[in-house]
Amino acid sequence: MPESEILRDLWYMAVPGQQLKRGQMLGKILLGQSLVLGRDANGEVFALRDICPHRGIPLSHGQFDGREIECCYHGWRFNCGGGCTHIPSLLPNQKFDLDRVFVTRYPCREVQGNVWVFFPEDERHVPDPLPEIPIVPGVEACHYRLVERALFPCSIDHAVVGLMDPAHGPFVHRSWWWRSRRSMHQKSKAFAPSHLGFTMVRHKPSSNSKAYKLLGGEVSTEIRFELPSTRIESIVAGRHHICGLTTLTPLADKQVELHQVFYWTIPWLTIFRPLMRPFVRTFIEQDRDVVDKQQQGLNEDPQLMLINDADRPARWYYQLKKEFQQSQTEQRAFVNPVPETTLHWCS
Ligand code: FES
Ligand SMILES: [Fe+2]
Repeated sequence: MPESEILRDLWYMAVPGQQLKRGQMLGKILLGQSLVLGRDANGEVFALRDICPHRGIPLSHGQFDGREIECCYHGWRFNCGGGCTHIPSLLPNQKFDLDRVFVTRYPCREVQGNVWVFFPEDERHVPDPLPEIPIVPGVEACHYRLVERALFPCSIDHAVVGLMDPAHGPFVHRSWWWRSRRSMHQKSKAFAPSHLGFTMVRHKPSSNSKAYKLLGGEVSTEIRFELPSTRIESIVAGRHHICGLTTLTPLADKQVELHQVFYWTIPWLTIFRPLMRPFVRTFIEQDRDVVDKQQQGLNEDPQLMLINDADRPARWYYQLKKEFQQSQTEQRAFVNPVPETTLHWCS
């Protein structure tokens, strides 16, 4: 499999739902393709190819009234399903079958406040039923949220590997409020296969993570990774949940968009939302900076290494990817290659 091939027939996070108001549309490049994302008058989200079938201008430059998009060039109109409904230049006696004109529509769903788009391998054969979108456990979309976004200047593989790399914490995320290099110690964590990925099974978080202490109650955490590039961290503190959803979406070559969404059921935490934002930003920027520096070396295409347990999740990622592609090609069920095991490392 070529380095950083982008998996298809999967859902990708497109945009936080709050960025798409009713009756609005938004042009965005995802997986190298121009899409127009919108929310109709009923609140339903949709995604269409952002290219007018007449002369190719992006439809997102046109007008949207909550029902139809009118192209800005010659005024052809399209409904939210991509069907052409009106061609203004046609005279009443000029017969033309509008059904011949349509814009490709992508499956699009809003789940827990985020808009996801499904990218089929073959646009003429969208699987039915569609796979599930990863759900953040224990929280509803209406729970308090904090959303941050960043662009990573790297391939999807390096972004994902960085996302689940357990060994960079004490070097990249060093700070007084989180942890220091001195706090490094040996860790042993149990892992198990899950759907299209793997889970670091529920455990008590490291005592060296100061921020956890603020939560009070019995704290436990579980981290799940799912193809193509979703990480869900679920913290249970007493009867409350605090969850982080991290998604990576390739936009173009060496450009990956990260969304970090937090949900929580603790009402008092919401008062601190404005204070939390800079911490979240700092954390993401630390990751972005290191990826940025890494590119300097990767530009020379060096040989790289994956060693022992600390790099095992990265190895699993490549194995999961390969198996997913093979199962698609051979049209058979996906067989998760991740074993049930315990990994040991120092961080
Ligand atoms: S280019 Fe869109 S209507 Fe002509
Ligand atoms: Fe990180």
